Amino acid sequence: MKITFDSCKGKMKGLVLAPVFEKGGVPERLKQEDPNGFIAKAMKADAFKGKEGQLCVVFLPDLRVILVGAGDKAKADARTFEKIGGRIAAIAKPLKRETLMICTSGVKEVSLPGTHVAAELAFGFGLGAYSFDVYKEKKEDDVPIEEVIISGPDPEAAQKAFEPLAAILDGVYETRDLVSEPSNMMTPSEFVDVAESIKIKGFDTDVLDAKQMKKLGMNLVLGVGQGSAHEPYLLIVKYMKGKKGDAPLLLVGKGVCFDSGGISLKPGRDMGDMKYDMAGAAAVLGTMMSIAKMGLKTNVVAVMPLVENMPSGSALKPGDVVQSMSGKTVEILNTDAEGRLILGDAVWYGQEKFKPDTVIDLATLTGAIHYSVGSEYAGLFTTDDALADQLKTAADETVMDHVWRLPLHENYDKLLHSDIADMANLASSPEAGSSTAAHFIGRFIQPDVKWAHLDIASMAWTKKDLPCAPKGATGFGVQLLTRFILNTRVS
Ligand code: BES
Ligand code: MN
Ligand code: ZN
Repeated sequence: MKITFDSCKGKMKGLVLAPVFEKGGVPERLKQEDPNGFIAKAMKADAFKGKEGQLCVVFLPDLRVILVGAGDKAKADARTFEKIGGRIAAIAKPLKRETLMICTSGVKEVSLPGTHVAAELAFGFGLGAYSFDVYKEKKEDDVPIEEVIISGPDPEAAQKAFEPLAAILDGVYETRDLVSEPSNMMTPSEFVDVAESIKIKGFDTDVLDAKQMKKLGMNLVLGVGQGSAHEPYLLIVKYMKGKKGDAPLLLVGKGVCFDSGGISLKPGRDMGDMKYDMAGAAAVLGTMMSIAKMGLKTNVVAVMPLVENMPSGSALKPGDVVQSMSGKTVEILNTDAEGRLILGDAVWYGQEKFKPDTVIDLATLTGAIHYSVGSEYAGLFTTDDALADQLKTAADETVMDHVWRLPLHENYDKLLHSDIADMANLASSPEAGSSTAAHFIGRFIQPDVKWAHLDIASMAWTKKDLPCAPKGATGFGVQLLTRFILNTRVS
């Protein structure tokens, strides 16, 4: 799908979607197409006032116009326009048009610093227009949207403002594609292949296979993967275009390509959802893609442990003790608490190898997070108030990558006590399950390294259409992390 900006000086034709603010009246640009004033009449007949959620469809001889309520102008900001863009995509999709136009005339007068209405509309449209139909038979009447033209007075400025957003959009699409794939397709080695096929300046991949991980003592990653027919990998993406010698940011993403629970097998109901247990790794990869496309002057390294958690004769068993790369031993009390295991080794490897000043990990880590914050927020865990604020600020700049800080406490940490090893992978009490999981990862963070953990288990996938994310993989994390990097780590 192509998104273009145009001043549209000539006559409009085809389908035009036009957001209109409350009490906004007929957009000036559309008046030119409608000498008989049909649009004004239709607005009156439909009692269309431009309220959020309102629609008004007008048939002109050469033009179909859909007015889309944009709500209160005084409350509008960048997010408003992204949401409207997403809504327009949802309206347009079933209409099966190859090209369509978005007319910005009814909302253009808003000028907020850093907000370019046409660019935000385009970004929201892109987010909302996503679909994953790789495995569906193409039907004759399937008409995918080929081109969206955003009309407005200064197309060059709009195009320029859209460029960084287009890079984020590409990262979100990549992440959604990876997460949407079923686990028989998106195996650890396939994930590596996808990463290696990404060719952008500065985007460097590196891979460790099981043999190399064995040498390094990454037995937590290997342990989780040992029940599967698919070999585990550690994928590393380096992007070092910042100042030489500046400590990088380390991003770590949970990449469990399928989580059956292992010997502590999950119930069958909804087990298929566990194909998206690699959404943390996918978000981290999508972020690396976005920042590389933007060509940011920054140092960021991503580490993604990729495994499949399966029950078999060679699988880890409850009660087993495994030594991590850090040297600390872990008693595996429940093989379904596997995410924290692979992350423990991955954050340790990343710190030893790349000496970051900050580590952020993303993981579909606990079912418990859903009970705490539902599908509105990812859980944010950190002891660093400044880092928490920076992540919150970046999150607030997005339509849906929101975070809510949850507690860490030394008494939660104590619940990870094991009688025979340095720690257990399951807390001795189910209370504060998302926090105890975070503490487990925290045990592998080195002194003086800032660290934040994001539990995205309730955010990576949506069972219903959202304003800027159709049902399915949301791509959570790409927008958040990219904006965090843009705000805080570009020299
Ligand atoms: N991948 C799951 C968490 C999850 C649940 C992600 C639902 C997305 C949706 C994780 O590996 C897991 O199984 N966690 C267990 C931990 C428990 C055994 C301590 C859980 O939350 O039940
Ligand atoms: Mn699990
Ligand atoms: Zn899992």
